[in-house]
Amino acid sequence: MRRLFALIIAILFLVTAPAQANDLGVELEDISAEKFNVTIEKFYATLPKAKGEYKSRVRPILIEGAMNTETEVLIRALKNPVAYRELNYLFVAGTYKDYPVVVVRTEIGVANAAASTALAIRKFNPIAVINQGTAGGHDSALKIGDIVIGERSFDHTAFRSAYSAAGTGIDLTKQENLGTYAYDEASGTFQAYTEYFPDPTLLNIAFKVANAHEEFNAVSGVIGTGNTWLECVDYVNFLHETYGSSCEEMETNSAAAICQSVGVPFIGIRVLSDNVTNSREYIPETATICQDFVLLVVEDYIRDVLKK
Ligand code: 5AD
Repeated sequence: MRRLFALIIAILFLVTAPAQANDLGVELEDISAEKFNVTIEKFYATLPKAKGEYKSRVRPILIEGAMNTETEVLIRALKNPVAYRELNYLFVAGTYKDYPVVVVRTEIGVANAAASTALAIRKFNPIAVINQGTAGGHDSALKIGDIVIGERSFDHTAFRSAYSAAGTGIDLTKQENLGTYAYDEASGTFQAYTEYFPDPTLLNIAFKVANAHEEFNAVSGVIGTGNTWLECVDYVNFLHETYGSSCEEMETNSAAAICQSVGVPFIGIRVLSDNVTNSREYIPETATICQDFVLLVVEDYIRDVLKK
């Protein structure tokens, strides 16, 4: 009787135990069906855990994505992936094309992007940072699935509005962009920057990949960041006309600011999952297009710059 009881307990345990990753790759089947972020517990449970601190002879490339859908292709592309969990952010370190690469799930929004970027810089000392993922179009010439290579980024929420008295209505188009603060080595102070620029080498490589691969419609453009999701077309058009924004999302500019503060080369690359100027659709699965493109950029960066 006791034996039967033990057998039932053992079977129950096997049935309910979390899926384990094997050595050949990452078993993410049980979470890939979920569109957005699975709980970090569930996600973490599917990955092999790192033992001890990260060690690498050469500085890794860090690739960032806010959501599960925006990091899964990248994580699956890593050889020998191991997971680190730090302040509840998830980092997966491995190799790609025999070069160390770390993927971080930054989580959504400017605070999480900044915090996880800073942590990753401390922990992994990356040679370069690529922030990528989905975005909403501000340019009616762009369609869902098109890629914006960030020739610059800015925070479209960092503004001072013009004064208007109570009862006279709201007009946010009368504004001055104040920028966001990053460390300036020359003055030893944090200064406001109304825009951040990518590393020219990474930018060139992204353009080369775009030219060499016709399957992607990738253009140079301006990435607007903020903890907002704008669906008011007049305001989107205002941002496009005033600041030249090609798209909006919630992370790029804040990661760019952290990288500028500490002198780490950076680029933001985004795919349109939506574009309120010409469509009412939202297709988050476009995130895979961006990751495929970014892996090509990483491959060329490793071959043409890091291994030279
Ligand atoms: N506005 C703001 N963020 C967007 N994202 C995709 N489309 C938009 C949009 N139209 C991205 C953000 C965030 C998540 C909600 O998707 O970067 O991480």
